[in-house]
Amino acid sequence: MISATPIPATARPLRLAGWTTGMQRSVLRQMLAVVSQPGILSFAGGLPAPDLFPTVDYSAAMARVLQSDASALQYGPPFRPLKRHIVALMAQRGVACSEEQIFLTTGAQQALDVLSRLLLDEGGQVMLEELVYTGIRQVVAPCRAEILSIPTDLETGIDVDAVIDYLETGARPAFLYAIPDAHNPLGVSIAEDKRRRLVEIAAAYGLPIIEDDPYGFLSYDGHSLPPIRAFGEANVFYVGSFSKILAPALRLGWLVAPEELAAKLTVIKEAGDLESSALTQRAVAAYLDAGHLPAHLARLREEYGRRRDTMLAAMARHFPSGVTWTRPRGGMFVWVTLPERVDSTALLETAVERERVAFIPGHAFAGPGVRAGNYMRLNFSNCCLADIEEGIGRLGRVLEAI
Ligand SMILES: Cc1ncc(COP(=O)(O)O)c(C=O)c1O
Repeated sequence: MISATPIPATARPLRLAGWTTGMQRSVLRQMLAVVSQPGILSFAGGLPAPDLFPTVDYSAAMARVLQSDASALQYGPPFRPLKRHIVALMAQRGVACSEEQIFLTTGAQQALDVLSRLLLDEGGQVMLEELVYTGIRQVVAPCRAEILSIPTDLETGIDVDAVIDYLETGARPAFLYAIPDAHNPLGVSIAEDKRRRLVEIAAAYGLPIIEDDPYGFLSYDGHSLPPIRAFGEANVFYVGSFSKILAPALRLGWLVAPEELAAKLTVIKEAGDLESSALTQRAVAAYLDAGHLPAHLARLREEYGRRRDTMLAAMARHFPSGVTWTRPRGGMFVWVTLPERVDSTALLETAVERERVAFIPGHAFAGPGVRAGNYMRLNFSNCCLADIEEGIGRLGRVLEAI
């Protein structure tokens, strides 16, 4: 029988969820689209070097998996042998954990999202550095979180006293987000005494710390500090990723979290993507079984270290006085401070038009109300040495004219 209930003749507009009001495409992504034109020497993106991807060894590992493991193309539980490898990797970073504490994710980004869903209520508070990886802001946006802004010292990292001040005056954030090594975008690594204080704070105030460590294995001066979680476990969630040490397209990351939270984390993750690719988990495990990672990491460290040194030396030669920059121990980024009067967004236009060279202006990483007009982020991992020399020379000419 055909229903007789009348349907209105005029169509109503599509109604979106309230939190999407005022949502804009990430400034960073928009800028990357503009500066990724042919002929532009770009220090803008945050990409690894494509010439260093372990293509041959990874495709051999993938072929072995496809030939021998029928479950590789099926739905299935997290692949335990991969977790075993991650436990060993964590031990190399000085973090003791068990397989039961490893939770596999679709990149570090999903680990951040899953943890935010676990910890953050609608309208809750989160502590973020004033200048920080933009992906964490996107993660907390749906909850309309109140951001408590923490300054960062460019030599020693996040301002721990500012964290304590907030907590002592009654703030109860759902979590503090921190990048222990080779911060994106600032390039700074957190000093050892601050790592120790952060674990004390996490325990004493019951403050969860999300420690996002995609660059921890990429240290270039022969020594690196253990992550925050190595100094104390209570309330510290470690997030790791294969994106920067193997390849971003694997979309494989992990977190180290208390075993008793695994069931809740699983339910949250399932809502997003059911599970991370069974095929990729097995292929990465097969690559690690074959023992390729240590030599690959050594190669990355050597080559990226050389690129960093080349960039820093070229900056010292070409940049005018009044311009300063961080000297990252690892990772992929140098953070440049220009004289206060300079607007680096306007400068980017000049740089692209006149010299065909690009960077990311600091304000792309700034929280609401944070002034970051006179900074720029330079990436050194994605350009060959000759392009770094040439590009920094071009940028030097742009800066001479400010
Ligand atoms: C600090 C930080 N966290 C997380 C990510 C995302 O990593 P993944 O590719 O593992 O999702 C990035 C990527 O640039 C990053 O810089």
